[in-house]
Amino acid sequence: GQKFDFIVVSNRLPVDRVQAEDGADQWRRSPGGLVTALAPIMAKSEGAWVGWHGAAGERLDAFDHGGMQLIPVELDAEEVELYYEGFANATLWPLYHDVIAPPEFHRTWWEAYRTVNRRFAAAAAEAAAPGGTVWVQDYQLQLVPKYLRELRPDLRIGFFNHIPFPPLEIYAQLPWRRTILEGLLGADLIGFQRGNDASNFLRCVRRFVNATVRQNQVQIDDRTARAEAFPISIDMAQISALANKPEVQQRAAQIRRDLGNPKTILLGVDRLDYTKGIQHRLKAFGELLADGRLTVEDATLIQVASPSRERVESYRLLREDVEGAVGRINGTHDTIQNTAVRYLHHSYPLEEMVALYLAADVMLVTALRDGMNLVAKEYVATRSDNTGALVLSEFTGAADQLRQAILINPHDIDGLKDSIMAAINLSPAEAGRRMRLMRRQILDHDVERWSQEFLDKLESGR
Ligand code: G6P
Repeated sequence: GQKFDFIVVSNRLPVDRVQAEDGADQWRRSPGGLVTALAPIMAKSEGAWVGWHGAAGERLDAFDHGGMQLIPVELDAEEVELYYEGFANATLWPLYHDVIAPPEFHRTWWEAYRTVNRRFAAAAAEAAAPGGTVWVQDYQLQLVPKYLRELRPDLRIGFFNHIPFPPLEIYAQLPWRRTILEGLLGADLIGFQRGNDASNFLRCVRRFVNATVRQNQVQIDDRTARAEAFPISIDMAQISALANKPEVQQRAAQIRRDLGNPKTILLGVDRLDYTKGIQHRLKAFGELLADGRLTVEDATLIQVASPSRERVESYRLLREDVEGAVGRINGTHDTIQNTAVRYLHHSYPLEEMVALYLAADVMLVTALRDGMNLVAKEYVATRSDNTGALVLSEFTGAADQLRQAILINPHDIDGLKDSIMAAINLSPAEAGRRMRLMRRQILDHDVERWSQEFLDKLESGR
């Protein structure tokens, strides 16, 4: 088969399957920032993307999509259950997010994780040109760097962890803690969102792996692996261009009118995930209404909760919880005319999301733990008139960069309530001052710079 100089490996391919009008399958590029950043690099070099296409038990040949070669990896139904829903999303995800939900440890899940990681490594090894570069993404594929190096020692291998890396005291619970660390150390460069994630990782390596750690360098099997923070970002140009489109601005105005022109629109946008602190946000908003500090005539909360990992039990329980809470708040506070919470269990195209950001006076990001949180950055990117306020959890990677947000501890409900009120009542001058600084930060650090810095660092070690 064809060989490629630059390969990205991620659990999911950066495309979604959609039905064309004649019923035939079509692929549409998914809205993520990662693919936006990497597509130009793919186009310049001979690039390919290795990943799962999202369906169980379906074999697909490699195909071209908009100048990008996509190489599908097959997962059967049992692997989807044990590797993806199980080990990735019911073991690693909760463990790496401060055990907000209890992680489950099952040896059958671990076996499937190893098998599937080997398959991804084999697919990358097969497609890579001699001396090429492979960039592996995220927690689903932590063993791929080591497996790939065993197959292809000639390659330059990078890894980026999009989610937090937990403190040693939590990571220590993982029965396979040493093997996972050794898997990651197969990479030449291991990237994390925050400096704290990189130091957590290095502490774990010191404790559990037979290797020498000096500053951010790990000496293992006569090679050096480096660990460092590269905070991911968004495509500022793409988001601002959408925000400046007259149709999108008209749509934002329409959304305000449809809600009956409330004084304040509050907005939450999340995958429906227990890490996002949606219940804490609802609790604070519900209490503000109950206390009479807000009324449904003054303020509406739009909560977009996009469906996610719906076959995993903790996600099903969360959905019941969130929908119960929304029902109670609305039942208590709604009038015939006004609704307290507009709850939308949907995902929307990026254009509609940008219209929602434009319509929102206050953006609420109350995650209990989040690797980065790009929603916070997207909101800021749309606010070209420097209006609007961002309430942002300290427990997100984004809080390291967006220092002028109204930073909150989502566990402190009274503090959260006061901060929501402060955001609503921010003077235009103060809101503008904060928004300008946050916009400057994102302008200077967009996702293209992120990928460039990672790849430059990766190549510099050759
Ligand atoms: C997070 C993870 C990604 C993942 C995404 C959606 O952002 O870091 O790796 O792709 O969630 O989750 P899903 O399970 O649907 O891929």
